[in-house]
Amino acid sequence: MSQLHVIATLKTCYTGKFGVPRQSGLAPAAWGVVEFEPAYRRAEAVRGIEAFSHLWLITRFHRVEEEPQSLTVRPPKLGGNERRGVFATRSPFRPNRLALTVVKLDRVELDGPESPRLWVSGVDLVDGTPVIDIKPYVRYADSVPEATSSFADSAPEALPVEWHCAQPSSAAAQTVIEQSLAGQPQPAYHQDAEREYATEIDGWHVRWQALEDRILVVGCDPDCLEVTSSATDAASRLRQPGRRRR
Ligand SMILES: C[S@@+](CC[C@H](N)C(=O)[O-])C[C@H]1O[C@@H](n2cnc3c(N)ncnc32)[C@H](O)[C@@H]1O
Repeated sequence: MSQLHVIATLKTCYTGKFGVPRQSGLAPAAWGVVEFEPAYRRAEAVRGIEAFSHLWLITRFHRVEEEPQSLTVRPPKLGGNERRGVFATRSPFRPNRLALTVVKLDRVELDGPESPRLWVSGVDLVDGTPVIDIKPYVRYADSVPEATSSFADSAPEALPVEWHCAQPSSAAAQTVIEQSLAGQPQPAYHQDAEREYATEIDGWHVRWQALEDRILVVGCDPDCLEVTSSATDAASRLRQPGRRRR
């Protein structure tokens, strides 16, 4: 098999893995930008793509460091204590570490210095995720209305999110934080209402507590964490707290 290579990098509103939705579309406001590698950074490569509302992104779970040692995983949807075969799940801990994500195509940027860039939303991937391929979502072929999906038959319950601290100055950031936390990113086996969780979302350092019936946001400050790679540097410039991106 010829070597696969990276065609683009996906910048997203999620600096770390924690807090990233468990599937695409669960946080519709979760934004991403596809930035092409120089060899593919040509308008002709995306000619006609604007006529599609959604795209498939085939990416690599680059933040999984090692090849998995087991062919079974514990899906969070099953509470984290039942095992399933890796090929019966969408777990990142899989051979080749390939991810399949459907996103909404919001805008094709053709006039910037790094254009073309694709602005997408509904992502479930960490900032800096390498993109292997992009394909248009084809409604008649890719949607199977009679499909059944075992333990993943419905989206996880979205809990109401209450703010017990100052909200971010940007309404867009507030929305993406609320949608991300509503999906209960914390491990299902944690059942401790006092426990405080923290992550970075859209340039904000967010702390929250998970009650049985709602999420309490207890802290939200501009994210001042160090970034480590040039890809993340570029994303952090995009991500300045409170700044609208479009
Ligand atoms: C269950 S996977 C689903 C991804 C894709 N929709 C799929 O089915 O292949 C989503 C989770 O993978 C993790 N994740 C996202 N991007 C990642 C990356 N680049 N490297 C490692 N893990 C990642 C996050 O924890 C996220 O909640």
